[in-house]
Amino acid sequence: MSHPANPKGLDVLLGLQWGDEGKGKIVDVLSPHYDIVARFQGGPNAGHTLEFNGQKHVLHLIPSGIFRPETLNVIGNGVIVDPFILQQEIAEIEAGGGQPRHNLLISRKAHLILPTHRLLDAAQEAAKGKDCIGSTLKGIGPAYAEKIARHGLRVGDIFSSDLPQRYARIREYHLSLAANLGFDPQGFLLDRKYSLSEYEARWHEALDQLRGMKLIDSEHFINRSLDQGKRVLAEGAQGTMLDIDFGSYPFVTSSNTTVAGVCSGLGVAPSRIGQVFGIVKAYCTRVGSGPFPTELMDATGQLLRDTGREYGSTTGRPRRCGWLDLPALRYAVMLNGVTRLFLMKTDVLNAFPEISVCTAYSMNGSHSTEIPYDLGTPGLQPVYQQLEGWQQEIHTPKPGESLPDALDRYIRFIEEATGVPVAVVSIGPDREETIVRHNFVNLRA
Ligand code: GDP
Ligand code: IMO
Ligand code: MG
Repeated sequence: MSHPANPKGLDVLLGLQWGDEGKGKIVDVLSPHYDIVARFQGGPNAGHTLEFNGQKHVLHLIPSGIFRPETLNVIGNGVIVDPFILQQEIAEIEAGGGQPRHNLLISRKAHLILPTHRLLDAAQEAAKGKDCIGSTLKGIGPAYAEKIARHGLRVGDIFSSDLPQRYARIREYHLSLAANLGFDPQGFLLDRKYSLSEYEARWHEALDQLRGMKLIDSEHFINRSLDQGKRVLAEGAQGTMLDIDFGSYPFVTSSNTTVAGVCSGLGVAPSRIGQVFGIVKAYCTRVGSGPFPTELMDATGQLLRDTGREYGSTTGRPRRCGWLDLPALRYAVMLNGVTRLFLMKTDVLNAFPEISVCTAYSMNGSHSTEIPYDLGTPGLQPVYQQLEGWQQEIHTPKPGESLPDALDRYIRFIEEATGVPVAVVSIGPDREETIVRHNFVNLRA
């Protein structure tokens, strides 16, 4: 085998908290420096926001390099795809000036989310009652469960002659599971709009469109591209604290959101991974249920929500808000081998005279700087250190200028606590509102 021109040509970008850290924005900023952007896990539960030229775009399934015509975008085998949502997203991107039919490639090994997966998601959540996970109801849990149970349908199956029979068998099984949970599909509306049969009709129409898309064996495509010296950026969805293995189980999503998911979700070896970019908000948010030690239930939490416009990109739900959690962040850095941090939404803290940071947890009188087995352990309390706020608007420093001292101290505090340099500071949702502190990768001119 010839020596690849760029043995570590794949960089990874992923969220270090509970999702919504600003991954979409940074992928969009970085994508001109990559040939390929590839999603490796998750599905339409993601909502990745991009802002440029005064326009806002929210992507769910399609990688965030899609608005760069020269960048190829791959939906990898580890992603689960709802063809109807994909179709809607393609139409929105086209309306926004993108050309996804040209620069979007979809793995034939990616599994399909069926309409009845979505029904089952709702049935399972309803059965859990107050203990529900707060799922996005996109069918994520049931579709990944189907994959692991080894009777899922894959994108590549949409050409097989026995597809109608296989679909009908799985559908019937799902309906019996929902009935066992006491769930009545009559009157249930998907996306609060479509009855099951209406959604199914649209889903099947969307399969026709999917048949006409560029469907590939993405593991071969990506490895070949790397061998040719091309550069690949793997775009994570959700965040480390929602990882199926390492998140606050069971209040997690159903995939590996951590760096290991890149290898199984794209078919690349660990030895090909170069940088791991960790995206972290300057505070914390979480949407859905589950433990959140630094959550603020008071006016400060509301101020973070209002200032940061913390409402879900996928479901519109208000996000729970709280201070930065360093034990959780260090855990995420450890699990992912993060090489650079990207500090997001620092502008949201502009008006705060004082900023708290959780440096440890106290439990039954003892302190720990590591996260425990169960983040929801009764009595677990965050231990805070107060830092001075910068109390001013932030602008990109001109040559010779520096960031406000208090912001600089905040950044250094995070760098010291994690041992990872903060390469980029984000000061607003737009592409342009991005401060590069130091060159972190061989960016193209
Ligand atoms: P993702 O899921 O990680 O891609 O993040 P989301 O798009 O769900 O949520 C991040 C939100 O914050 C979006 O509305 C972004 O437009 C916005 N955003 C990203 N970076 C910044 C920033 O530095 N400052 C502010 N104020 N908003 C930002
Ligand atoms: P991005 O990629 C924030 C949360 C849901 C719920 C839990 C399980 O935009 O950061 P699921 O639908 O996966 O079964 O929901 O995970 N969740 C997210 N929270 N950002 C996301 O994605 C999320 N995707 C799922 O709110 O608590
Ligand atoms: Mg999001």
